[in-house]
Amino acid sequence: MHDPTEGYARPTGADATGPGDDIEDLLQRARDAAARYITGVTARAPMPTDAAIAALEGFREPLPAGPTSAAEVLRRLDALGSPATVATTGGRFFGFVVGGTLPVTVAANWLATAWDQNAGTWTLSPVAAELEEVAAGWLLEILDLPRDAAVGFVTGSTMATFSAIVAARSALLRRAGWDVRRRGLRDAPRVRIVASAETHPTNLAALAYAGFGTDEVEPAPVDEQGRIIPEAMPPLDERTLVLVQAGNLNSGACDPFEPICARAREAGAWVHVDGAFGLWARASRRHRAMTAGIELADSWSVDGHKWLNLPQDSAIYACRDHDAVFDAFSVDATYIVRGARRQPNYYTPELSRRARGVEFWAALKHLGRDGVEALVDRSCAHAARFADGLRAAGYEVLNDVVLNQVVFACDDEARTRAALERIQASGVCWLGPTHWKGRFAMRLSVSSWATTTEDVERSLAVMAAARE
Ligand SMILES: Cc1ncc(COP(=O)(O)O)c(C=O)c1O
Repeated sequence: MHDPTEGYARPTGADATGPGDDIEDLLQRARDAAARYITGVTARAPMPTDAAIAALEGFREPLPAGPTSAAEVLRRLDALGSPATVATTGGRFFGFVVGGTLPVTVAANWLATAWDQNAGTWTLSPVAAELEEVAAGWLLEILDLPRDAAVGFVTGSTMATFSAIVAARSALLRRAGWDVRRRGLRDAPRVRIVASAETHPTNLAALAYAGFGTDEVEPAPVDEQGRIIPEAMPPLDERTLVLVQAGNLNSGACDPFEPICARAREAGAWVHVDGAFGLWARASRRHRAMTAGIELADSWSVDGHKWLNLPQDSAIYACRDHDAVFDAFSVDATYIVRGARRQPNYYTPELSRRARGVEFWAALKHLGRDGVEALVDRSCAHAARFADGLRAAGYEVLNDVVLNQVVFACDDEARTRAALERIQASGVCWLGPTHWKGRFAMRLSVSSWATTTEDVERSLAVMAAARE
């Protein structure tokens, strides 16, 4: 029987088993398709057409009995898949909080995929471990967090916050004389959870994965911008985990870290900051004041795949207490041969995983401190321009536009819904709905490097025309 992998032992075309089974040819085809996609995506509508979605039916075929050439596999993926993507890497996708992808990180990701390193241990991949170590140091520096914090590379903010919660749980219980890894949670002393009343829903999920039910969460009341009111917080003690945020999902506002962390320190509580996108405000001299005191917290999470514009599946968390992290995650076995340096699997819930430090390193090497600052400042300037333009078009802007998020609405819900539908159907830009302070509204997030002034003006024209 024909073995389609057989040809890979022969890198030249002469003995290839079929078109595209030659590696040079195959990767050239992938390069061409990707380049076509990346250069074409800026001109495309943000959402796929109905026809492109209908064509996905083409993937629903019976399991192939025999081989298909690699070139044909790739051709089919491009033909059916590329038109059915959501153009989040273009310049006019403002829904959710997604971020685009810096081309250098796509290229670095390709090379790292070719390496196929198992980044779980130094012995299995010295390069992955070293790049993580370098990127971790640079991240702590650019985000101005304690330089000696432990940093774990995970899939997204949900897992970053989950990891920090598990580390916090270990530390808080260890201080109470309880080794949770050995003795479990069932009979453990109770850990209290205080979280912003506007904590992101994924944080509630992360708490539940760690054994803390949503009914156990004591909400910290917030003000009109979604910031915790420190004086109104529930009392803290030495077994409390406090979840705060840098970058409210709607308003972009930051909690007042200084008074919250001061209270937590006095009580011996642990503060975790969900900074999925907002932590990047710290990289901008113009915006970092809103994060004052954030360095006093115990742990922090931030996405790479949002505002830093890395490919999806990239986030980190940082944690002051290395022992808490190792208590939570270290896995040892004779076969998991340890290197002399960083042991990546001591920092994350996984053993085998891809080398996530590569894209962080590539983006920071490429942009430098100034480039990251410019990316943040440019996004915030676009958001401010959106706010001005929307007000001029007769919308009400509902938040103080302090970062990259804008919440806006018409006078009543029916008009807001109608305007949102028109904007979404325009094919020019896309944004989504939200509820803000009991009101149905629209929310836009400017978090892609690819958004230009022209994108903003084109989108504003559509938004203005969409309002009745
Ligand atoms: C404030 C905040 N926290 C957490 C998350 C979850 O992040 P992820 O989707 O990377 O898991 C998001 C996602 O939008 C967010 O905005």
